[in-house]
Amino acid sequence: MSARPPGTDRPWTGRTTVLTFAEKRRSGEPIVMVTAYDHPTARLVDAAGVDAVLVGDSLAMAVLGHPNTLSVTMDEMLHHARAVSRGARRALLVGDLPFMSYQADAGDAVRNAGRFLAEAGMDAVKLEGGRAFAATVRAIVRAGIPVQGHVGLRPQSLNALGGFKVQARTAEAARELLEDALALEDAGCFSIVLEGVPERVAGHVTERLRIPTIGIGAGRSTSGQVLVLADILGLQEQVQPRFVKRYASLAEAGRAAVATFRDDVQARRFPAAEHRYDLPDEEWDAYLGAVGDSFPSATLHEA
Ligand code: KIV
Repeated sequence: MSARPPGTDRPWTGRTTVLTFAEKRRSGEPIVMVTAYDHPTARLVDAAGVDAVLVGDSLAMAVLGHPNTLSVTMDEMLHHARAVSRGARRALLVGDLPFMSYQADAGDAVRNAGRFLAEAGMDAVKLEGGRAFAATVRAIVRAGIPVQGHVGLRPQSLNALGGFKVQARTAEAARELLEDALALEDAGCFSIVLEGVPERVAGHVTERLRIPTIGIGAGRSTSGQVLVLADILGLQEQVQPRFVKRYASLAEAGRAAVATFRDDVQARRFPAAEHRYDLPDEEWDAYLGAVGDSFPSATLHEA
């Protein structure tokens, strides 16, 4: 562990905190949250002016190539969270507690949540689960760590849910969702992610809560929205769920750029004069004299 956690030199002035979330809930101003997983993406989303950056366990799928979020570890999450906190200055930083870092017992949950703050410069943590995790949320909050809840489609429970499926599609399931959200609020969550929920259920739950809801696949009526950065940027092309809007086509642009680089190298167009460093003639002659050699000019290709 480094002596000073990354991100601790971030100024408080102008920075988003959990109080900003509460204020935006009161004023009705939409809250914007985006995922990031490393230093360049953290700088990018922070500079774009988002309110919060989530180092999501979607890291597993978006960056590490896993088919779901179950296999990402606490150490991997911390490694990426550290890079994010070195890159973001202003946004609230939320570390996503990965599968099995909080489910087994509340002591583990508090310790792992604490690691996100102490070792990785995060400001808050997120965990998936409703009423069953209210006591865990309470324990983490008691340690002075802000917690964001996550209900509806909970990817860490995909085996129990039978896949990535929209939740709360019956009256009973919608009522259960409301109970879960109220329990999380009561336990001290500063906000709740609602994932994969019909729009009117998400809107009603939002109405009933005092804390803000952040929706993903939950329609328009939540207090804010979150998307996975790879989906916004069009870096991930394998699947495009209905709730995703792609704002750029970076995978396409990236492929084209690398193919042009390949063509340039193969055709000896790169590096051109502006990409090269030169040595003054007298130094060059002195060098050749010193090594007692001459330079085979055929080695230099004309650009
Ligand atoms: O891990 C993640 O990216 C998330 C968001 C989709 C909310 O949990």
